[in-house]
Amino acid sequence: MSVLVTGGAGYIGSHIVRMLQQSSDVIVVDNFSTGRRERITDVPIYDIDLAADSSVREVRLVLRRHDVRAVIHMAALKQVGESVEQPVRYYRENTQTLAHVLEAMEAESVPLLVFSSSAAVYGSPAADLVSEEDETKPVNPYGSSKLMGEWLVRDVAKATSIRAVSLRYFNVAGAGSAELADTVPANLITLAIDALARGSAPKIFGDDYDTPDGSGVRDYVHVEDLASAHIAAIDYLSKTHESYSAVNVGTGTGASVKEVLAELVEVSGSTIEPKVTERRAGDPAAVVADATRIKERFEWTPTHSVRDMVESAWSAQLHAEG
Ligand code: WQD
Repeated sequence: MSVLVTGGAGYIGSHIVRMLQQSSDVIVVDNFSTGRRERITDVPIYDIDLAADSSVREVRLVLRRHDVRAVIHMAALKQVGESVEQPVRYYRENTQTLAHVLEAMEAESVPLLVFSSSAAVYGSPAADLVSEEDETKPVNPYGSSKLMGEWLVRDVAKATSIRAVSLRYFNVAGAGSAELADTVPANLITLAIDALARGSAPKIFGDDYDTPDGSGVRDYVHVEDLASAHIAAIDYLSKTHESYSAVNVGTGTGASVKEVLAELVEVSGSTIEPKVTERRAGDPAAVVADATRIKERFEWTPTHSVRDMVESAWSAQLHAEG
């Protein structure tokens, strides 16, 4: 079976491509606006701007040429702060691109889609443990663009023979190898490593939350476990007649900022202590996945710990420093 991965040159996409290559023919579409070509080897690559109207025709050609049976749509922008400043760009790059891919899939009768969504669709959930049935109330354009994407996928699955799953990623971290590591300091572990590399103190955005140690709690999932969840999603879609569902991808266990940074200090051997600063606007105290559905439907369980995520991210930094 041929699988098309859009955004396959990205941090998460390239881990999916690397894992899929072991069992499938993989094709990558990417515009390399944030992805890096050197992350991908030995697969056909098409440099296509999925936001352009012309992309529907271009993607149709790719789907037909490679007899694609499943699409994993990863192409998107994912920086929350940036989405607040540039909402039009985020809706264009995250929702309009998806519409073009869906149009091409329908025209070429490609049956299966896995859509890269996010826990950001929940916004600031009321309960610490979030299930797929909980209210989706995004609090930034990034989360809203992902929720709109889910609605688009759901409605297309209802109207056509396409069968789809939206995967709601919780906090992704770690690296399968140094060259696939996340190089953009935009989330806790990458920001903390970037600070240490500059000889500065990692920041704890508030320690007065209603959590065990006062710092924010999140559900961290290793990027390789996330990649395997996408392959499990395709297997699930291949076997089920369900047209659409949304599935959380998380471990079901939270870790606090202080716990994660303590691991990093130990792994790095750094003597620089993290510094408590003001809260970051919009941050909820705790967001942890209810991972029942993914475990039951996909028979998927995470295999990596927070320590693995910190160690792999840190060793990628050492590799990058040469
Ligand atoms: C994690 C925790 C911060 C940096 C993001 C976005 C989105 C989504 C999931 C894909 C929070 C704290 C952070 C720092 C800190 N990704 N923090 N010091 O905001 O939970 O969610 O990831 O869909 O990108 O929704 O991730 O890594 O920014 O923050 O104390 O320097 O770490 O307050 O508690 P977040 P994050």
